[in-house]
Amino acid sequence: MRISIFGLGYVGCVSLGCLAKNGHHVIGVDVNQQKVDLINQGLPTIVEYEIDEIIAAEFKNGKIKATTSAKEAILDTSISIICVGTPSTPQGHLNLAYIYKTAEQIGIAIKEKDEFHTVVIRSTVMPGTNEKLGEIIEQYSGKKRNMAFSVVSNPEFLREGTAVKDYYNPSITVIGGDNEFAMEQVAELYKDLPAPIEKVDIKVAEMIKYVNNSFHALKITFANEVGNIAKSLGIDSHKVMELFCKDTHLNISPNYFKSGFAYGGSCLPKDLGGLITIAKDNYLDIPMLSNINDSNEYQKKLAFDLITTKKSKKITFLGLAFKEGTDDLRYSPFVDVAEKLLGKGYELCIYDPNVHISKLIGTNKSYIDEHLPHLSKLITDDLEVALQFGDIVLINHRNVNLEKFINYLGEKEAIIDLVRIKIASNLANYQGLCW
Ligand SMILES: NC(=O)c1ccc[n+]([C@@H]2O[C@H](COP(=O)([O-])OP(=O)(O)OC[C@H]3O[C@@H](n4cnc5c(N)ncnc54)[C@H](O)[C@@H]3O)[C@@H](O)[C@H]2O)c1
Repeated sequence: MRISIFGLGYVGCVSLGCLAKNGHHVIGVDVNQQKVDLINQGLPTIVEYEIDEIIAAEFKNGKIKATTSAKEAILDTSISIICVGTPSTPQGHLNLAYIYKTAEQIGIAIKEKDEFHTVVIRSTVMPGTNEKLGEIIEQYSGKKRNMAFSVVSNPEFLREGTAVKDYYNPSITVIGGDNEFAMEQVAELYKDLPAPIEKVDIKVAEMIKYVNNSFHALKITFANEVGNIAKSLGIDSHKVMELFCKDTHLNISPNYFKSGFAYGGSCLPKDLGGLITIAKDNYLDIPMLSNINDSNEYQKKLAFDLITTKKSKKITFLGLAFKEGTDDLRYSPFVDVAEKLLGKGYELCIYDPNVHISKLIGTNKSYIDEHLPHLSKLITDDLEVALQFGDIVLINHRNVNLEKFINYLGEKEAIIDLVRIKIASNLANYQGLCW
């Protein structure tokens, strides 16, 4: 394939070399003459392991060159990959000025081109940029998206220092688009890489890189805060984190990664609180760990606010224990929401097949006696009775068998789902908490 790369920085230079090495003819474009000159001498624009040899070899093979002319590059290629910089604005947004300027240049060049052109956004951009880029290209080319050109989002996941290795060994290749031909063209570029290709909605592709990098920042901060606490206690933090990483079931795993409702129960709030207190006892600042609970409380507030935007004051709770499969009500976030709703004059009917008032004992009983003293009057073990009661149905547990009752659900004012069950999601009155 003949490919043009806009932006010859860390991402662009690596893409230029690696795509050429994979057999493509690649033209680099940059506004910086010095970078263009370097490529045209067979030299990389960056310092990165292995890139010197790759650029030198592919330059010698006649597979790479560079120019400052966007038009020359567009007319000579069928696909353009945008790798220009997206620095931060003082307000913390991404500055997309270089992206939009590139779109203008591409639009002007596409105006003079007869063949279909595929534009790929490889830079990290905010959700909505793909659409805006298409509009700019339409404006400057006078041609229509998906008739004369397409815009595909294909975020880059490489890390500086191991960029070439990362290019050839990504965990996944993400392709977001609205044109099957263009998406296939992009998939073709990566067909030899040992990674699954995920074709997704454009905005999902645009968001994933932010989520990845924010999580990486979170991981580093988590390890640092744990390290600071461990050090203050004379404990080897690296041994602790080494053990932490060995739990690939609960720690380094997809577990706990479903967006939804707040955590609760007798362990997470207590033990997080315990760790924070140890840190405070040792005069340590641990801002990240200290704010987890605030975020969790906010999630409960979001659910409460969503319920109280509805007209009716009759609510059915499907699930009350802090998670399904247990009768443990201690620090259940659903108990919190129920308590707050009752305080505001709402009427509740609660269904939880695992919670039997007569069998509650010990701290579980004392907790519920303190927070929902009249639970026996609110709870039923008959799902149909519960569903008949409320105009708003709150789905808190996934294991409730709603198949037989889909007609009831359709007639309710609102179905508010905190766990994302599939069965009700097509109903017009369905609302998820964070989806
Ligand atoms: N550096 C990384 O490790 C990395 C990894 C993944 C994704 N990203 C993302 O990729 C994008 C590029 O990052 P980078 O580190 O390669 O940036 P960079 O600053 O190293 O390079 C950007 C290049 O774009 C050029 N440029 C600006 N406007 C141009 C235009 N109109 N036409 C042609 N060239 C133009 C600049 O001259 C510069 O050479 C950013 O969005 C970044 O967030 C970076």
